Amino acid sequence: MSQLKPMSHLENIPPTPGKLKMDKSLFTNRHRWHSSLTTLTFWSFVFLGLILLFFFRAPSPSPLPSDPSGRSSRTYNWGGPAWEKRARYSARVRSRNGISVLVTGAAGFVGTHVSTALKRRGDGVLGLDNFNDYYDPSLKRARQVHLERTGVFIVEGDINDSALLNKLFEVVAFTHVMHLAAQAGVRYAIENPSSYVHSNIAGLVNLLEVCKSANPQPAIVWASSSSVYGLNTKVPFSERDRTDQPASLYAATKKAGEEIAHTYNHIYGLSLTGLRFFTVYGPWGRPDMAYFFFTRDILRGKPIPIFKAPNHGTVARDFTYIDDIVKGCLAALDTAEKSTGSGGKKRGPAQLRIFNLGNTSPVPVSDLVSILERLLKVRAKRHSMKLPRNGDVQFTHANISLAQRELGYKPTTDLQTGLKKFVRWYLSYHSGGKMATG
Ligand SMILES: *[C@@H]1O[C@H](CO)[C@@H](O)[C@H](O)[C@H]1NC(C)=O
Ligand SMILES: *[C@@H]1O[C@H](CO)[C@@H](O)[C@H](O)[C@H]1NC(C)=O
Repeated sequence: MSQLKPMSHLENIPPTPGKLKMDKSLFTNRHRWHSSLTTLTFWSFVFLGLILLFFFRAPSPSPLPSDPSGRSSRTYNWGGPAWEKRARYSARVRSRNGISVLVTGAAGFVGTHVSTALKRRGDGVLGLDNFNDYYDPSLKRARQVHLERTGVFIVEGDINDSALLNKLFEVVAFTHVMHLAAQAGVRYAIENPSSYVHSNIAGLVNLLEVCKSANPQPAIVWASSSSVYGLNTKVPFSERDRTDQPASLYAATKKAGEEIAHTYNHIYGLSLTGLRFFTVYGPWGRPDMAYFFFTRDILRGKPIPIFKAPNHGTVARDFTYIDDIVKGCLAALDTAEKSTGSGGKKRGPAQLRIFNLGNTSPVPVSDLVSILERLLKVRAKRHSMKLPRNGDVQFTHANISLAQRELGYKPTTDLQTGLKKFVRWYLSYHSGGKMATG
């Protein structure tokens, strides 16, 4: 041991003037050797720790928490250089003054149409979807194929996964987020209430947390719902009306979303625009919506339930065609101001908006069935029923003057014209032409 020359690196330290320099006994040198060994060991552990940390954090592939909604447990594979390259390529802006948008719920009905429209005008689009089985996932897969042809890549994952969202913002500096992912449907909440909390509350908060920390912070446009008007009887529904009597858990979580949006706008300077959609319909639509399953059931000769309100009033909806909704979404993105809290410090008030996107002409559900009968050339088996008290409201009618003024929103498709396009798509899609375009 003793012949191990104390060639300690400490010797290389420029000599310190003073007493200590004189103290070069064997003991001190050996002591120094030991302490340098300890230092070396210490740093080795730190280094090893960093390597382990890196591997445990690397999301490639990442096992993710299972879906607590109770429908299906699944894990998503994301991460890796090829995956990042695809994401970056999909989100690349191709037009001058184009925007780069993360679209959540991209394999959904509205998500598919908005993603396509953005991509076609040269914006960068990256989709995100968990492909859950709330309705037939094969329809979502078909939409995905349709989107891939347009050049939109959909990342498979959950909005409540913060590691994934952080990764997405690390890979792409999104200027905008179009947040359409949600648990939809008013009656399904009776069966599976936690799925609404998971997507519409926890998922939203998670998304806003990641957005508020992103630098630069994106502007966010997101889907609220006309259902927030709940039991209101004053029509048409205006953005300034009260929205504190929801008739379903779905409506309650959307209303909560509007309040959560207010908070993130107030504290962190996130630019937030909520859109209250009124009964959106059209090609590639959702099978859980009445116009969709009425079409299916009329063709199968099954009875169609037509709800009557308790006071013998008609049940009517302000049906809004998808192309009109898409125009409203794009106008909301284009008029969204920048968030003001980039870098963690809010620099001033940020934009906070809510708009109705409806059609302003409610149609009784019995008229919807008559139009479908004519288009399908099949007589429906109408089955009159009392409107159950499980979430549906009697009437929706949008006042769209605010969206008209601020977004230039002007719906142009009436129900007859829109349903004709839907039926054409439906027949083509279900006759094996699964790739039918809208
Ligand atoms: C959302 O994710 C967090 C972890 O990021 C988890 O603790 C929470 O349980 C999740 N919420 C729901 C409702 O799934
Ligand atoms: C629609 O809303 C606007 C405010 O945005 C209001 O001035 C107008 O009176 C409303 N119209 C009707 C018919 O209620």
